[in-house]
Amino acid sequence: MADESELIYFYCAVSTTASKRSLVTRALLVTLVLTVLAPIAASQTDKVKISVDVSKAGPKIDRNLFGQFAEHLGHGVYEGIWVGPNSRIPNTRGIRNDVVAALKAIRVPNVRWPGGCFADEYHWRKGIGPERVVTLNPNWGGVIEPNTFGTHEFMDFIDQIGAEAFLSINVGSGSPQEAAEWLEYLTTLQPTTLSKERAANGHPAPYKIAYLGIGNESWDCGGNMTPDYYVSQLKIYSRFVRNFNPTQSSNNQMLKIAVGPGGNEPRFIEWTDAVMKAWKNRQWSWDLQGLSLHNYTVIHWDKKFSSVGFGESEYNRILKATLEMENLISSYSAIMDKYDPEKRIALVVDEWGAWYAPLPGSNPDFLVQQNSVRDAILAALNLNIFARHGDRVRIANIAQMINVLQSMIMTDKEKMVLTPTYYVYKMYVPFQDATFVPVAFNAGTYTHGDITLPRVDAIAAKDAKGKLWLEITNLDPNKPIEIEVSLAGLNAKSAAGETLTAPRVDSVNTFETPTTVVPKRISAKVEHGAVSLKLEPKSITVISVEK
Ligand code: AHR
Repeated sequence: MADESELIYFYCAVSTTASKRSLVTRALLVTLVLTVLAPIAASQTDKVKISVDVSKAGPKIDRNLFGQFAEHLGHGVYEGIWVGPNSRIPNTRGIRNDVVAALKAIRVPNVRWPGGCFADEYHWRKGIGPERVVTLNPNWGGVIEPNTFGTHEFMDFIDQIGAEAFLSINVGSGSPQEAAEWLEYLTTLQPTTLSKERAANGHPAPYKIAYLGIGNESWDCGGNMTPDYYVSQLKIYSRFVRNFNPTQSSNNQMLKIAVGPGGNEPRFIEWTDAVMKAWKNRQWSWDLQGLSLHNYTVIHWDKKFSSVGFGESEYNRILKATLEMENLISSYSAIMDKYDPEKRIALVVDEWGAWYAPLPGSNPDFLVQQNSVRDAILAALNLNIFARHGDRVRIANIAQMINVLQSMIMTDKEKMVLTPTYYVYKMYVPFQDATFVPVAFNAGTYTHGDITLPRVDAIAAKDAKGKLWLEITNLDPNKPIEIEVSLAGLNAKSAAGETLTAPRVDSVNTFETPTTVVPKRISAKVEHGAVSLKLEPKSITVISVEK
């Protein structure tokens, strides 16, 4: 008889409405798995069998789950995106061409800007027009904030990479009037004084603002508000910060996102409940379409793990910690379900990722860390969790896009290197807006020291053309795994794709050695409609199946 720990990951059709799962249904599911599937529980050496029923469909894997976050923090914006039009680094209107090309290739759907904590101290008028106001960035090292990258530069940047705008407005130290005027400036078609000023600054047409975050972490860096105080602010900002762009009046409406919980502290149950209850009892005058969740993977805030030079126990402790995202989403979704059973309010995980100790020699306020194959696996596990909760989780933004925390890209003057996490985002492009397909498997566990993890994670999805895509992660850093995928409802003829792995758990890409962790082609064997392939230790594999 398999024990429960060997059956960590079994996703059947139930997972398509995963956030509906109560503790009771989860217990029933485990019982079902224990009794029905125990005889086929995988031993550590067996082939792992994965079944995909291609005729079943779950929620859409919204492309916005692959969103990015760019805060005025360290070299995230200045140097990472903005080098200025006079730089010798090749640029278009001051924005780095190499970074734009790399980001276009991963089809970034939206970028959250200008923060983070920075957003609640940002005053947009200082960053428009020919004369920029030079201020400080008190949150992140007290360095000079030249405001040379402001509203127009941000909108130009997202236009160059083909993404949509997710603006975080200043609730902490701003005012409803300041935020309302920012939106009027950005979105008005009629010749108001503000829209004429926008035109004079180079953009006659109204901008599209797809997402509006109303404050950031208002329970801490955003003003340390109580739930009730925040809710009263939320109603005011939701009412008065209007989008006047005529193309966004009906179908294309700007989605307003409230500050939600941050991690698993007990106080966030009350916070989530307060915001959702207020929404349920709302009057006609205000509304909401999203609730934010922030959750970083960190073991000790005051003694963070290193992003380089670590071993297997730091590898598996971080991965164990990151899997907590599943519980967090399930428990906050359950609170949301109480007030919003139809799931009209999206859970927006607009800050997530690994947070390690600053790299030695870097400014500790700039949150510079390396990015290893461990982070690639961490990213895949989280993206899979979001996909399984796709009925509730419809936007997510990894922190942060360039040079900060778990970034896609690192730059040093004219040099640029793509991180292992970047390659995961590239491999997952086919999952953007694809339809989730339930997957069932029982791969057993991998144990090191006192930490036990599932050996395997996997998701499947059908793209717009009906092609099936499969992602399989082997968490075990030591052993390869033979996989056999049976595909009900699909007569497979061939399968191929890419795999990402590395020699060591702490392998990274550097400016000098940029190809240590890069995807390689992989082909699978197809016999009698079943797909077989071997997964390297600590690897992420994405394949498509041809019929
Ligand atoms: O991403 C870095 C910081 O983490 C953000 O500014 C803040 O929102 C969070 O605490």
